[in-house]
Amino acid sequence: MTGVDREWWKRAVFYQIYPRSFMDSDGDGVGDLPGIRSRLPYLASLGVDALWISPFFKSPMKDFGYDVADYRDVDPLFGSLDDCRALVDEAHRLGIRVLLDLVANHTSEEHPWFVEARASRANPRHSWYLWHPIARRNALGRPVPPNNWKCLFELRSAWFENAATDELYLGTFTRHQPELDWRNPAVPAEFADILRFWFELGVDGFRLDVATAYFKDAELRSNPFSWKPLDLFQRHVYDRNRPEVFGALAELRKVADERGDRVLVGETHGRDASLAAACHGERGEGLHMAFNFDFLFRPWSAKAFRDSARAWYAALPEGAWPNFTLSNHDQIRHARRYRKAGYTDARAKVAAAMLLTLRGSPFLYYGEELGMEGGYPPRGQLRDPLGIATWPLRAYGRDPERTPMQWDSSQNAGFTTGTPWLPLERGWRERNVERELRDPGSVLSFYVSMIALRRSRPELALGSLAFLGDDPGVLAYERRGEGGVSGEGRVLVILNFDAKARRAELPSDGSVLLGTHREPGARIQAGTAVLSPCEVLLLAPAERKYPEA
Ligand code: NOJ
Repeated sequence: MTGVDREWWKRAVFYQIYPRSFMDSDGDGVGDLPGIRSRLPYLASLGVDALWISPFFKSPMKDFGYDVADYRDVDPLFGSLDDCRALVDEAHRLGIRVLLDLVANHTSEEHPWFVEARASRANPRHSWYLWHPIARRNALGRPVPPNNWKCLFELRSAWFENAATDELYLGTFTRHQPELDWRNPAVPAEFADILRFWFELGVDGFRLDVATAYFKDAELRSNPFSWKPLDLFQRHVYDRNRPEVFGALAELRKVADERGDRVLVGETHGRDASLAAACHGERGEGLHMAFNFDFLFRPWSAKAFRDSARAWYAALPEGAWPNFTLSNHDQIRHARRYRKAGYTDARAKVAAAMLLTLRGSPFLYYGEELGMEGGYPPRGQLRDPLGIATWPLRAYGRDPERTPMQWDSSQNAGFTTGTPWLPLERGWRERNVERELRDPGSVLSFYVSMIALRRSRPELALGSLAFLGDDPGVLAYERRGEGGVSGEGRVLVILNFDAKARRAELPSDGSVLLGTHREPGARIQAGTAVLSPCEVLLLAPAERKYPEA
């Protein structure tokens, strides 16, 4: 890639790859880096600008890579450092940037740091982790934890015994993911070095796993009660989301800025827009972007998404750049969340049009461009620790959204010649890249056209946004270039969320740029337009003509 383009990420369409599930090159049933590399031409033709690849570092895979045993090496399951270099180089050749996933809140219990740390209180690595001395034991002889913090994927106390030091260590995800002490300056310094290592290799940035969890309450106070079952009935104000974290994020930002055009995107807690907003820093000194997951929990309604986007825009500090996402590797895919007999694909297109035209960088999740819904593996084939712990509840486990990518109608959808690590979703013979590329009405063809349009109209990425009207069923807004890189153009976006026809008021005449029910170039007059059920309509408004004075 030539020249330094510091703000590329504001225009970019991001695409998340869960590497176990994208493409397997060696027949072991698990996706890998050479597999991803072999599919780069597809990603280039889809038109995405950047990949975020979930962790592929050395790991015992207790949380499928979110438990890292060596931050500077690739797990042999996924390939080698050379495979990573080759993937990054080839992606760059095709104009695609690559973000990795930094898991800096915790390591694997098998990381040499923790192996040393747990051996003795005197070991220099001991103070890299969080500990609490065992003071008391209950009637069963089990140590009494210092507070009520929970281990999310095991549904029990987050404190685990370490006999060698007569202490408890903290693991708020699984017992296999001991948490680091970010108050020890050696820890942030080490992660700064890890960032530099990968930047040197050519990586364009990082998604930061649970970025707001790095700091815990210094006094280890118990979390207060909450009514939210997904938060395990606790308000997470002491075990994560501490204000001390913002300083640490700003330090990581400085490391990214040493290279000019590298980008950091933080994962934040749930749907708290103000927390995500704070990660950007008041003067832009924080992360480039932070996820606000509110869209993942909204019901299917134009009003719900308008309210959410408005709140997100309002929460962000001056100059901060929003982002939007509808699916990821931790939540049920949105095609399934919003499925409705006869309208599932139509809704997927409405959702895509919204995601790709709101003001903010869109993050797609592999397979959403096919309208993939995911699948529910039978109990014996569950892999996710959370899914296993919460079986038969369906709301928690994350296997459903991690099923293999569907490339074609051949064996295992072309994902592997072996046995896929998770069963494929039902319907893959019809819903796959090869079939959908041949069908101009498919969800995939729609994504391709939408992304191409977004690329050709800078106002869709960088322009201002003004919502039009407050209709509960129709989401409408204007994107307007404001000169400079955002151009001078305007686009009206009109999305009917309803499965019934609905009226919309068009402020001016226009011609269709892209739509699900009208041909590009068709002209529409100002005034009341009748939209078909789930219609997507993108218009270039005609310049207003004023009567001559
Ligand atoms: C958030 C990640 O998205 C999730 O998949 C993982 O299990 C936890 N962090 C722990 O790293």
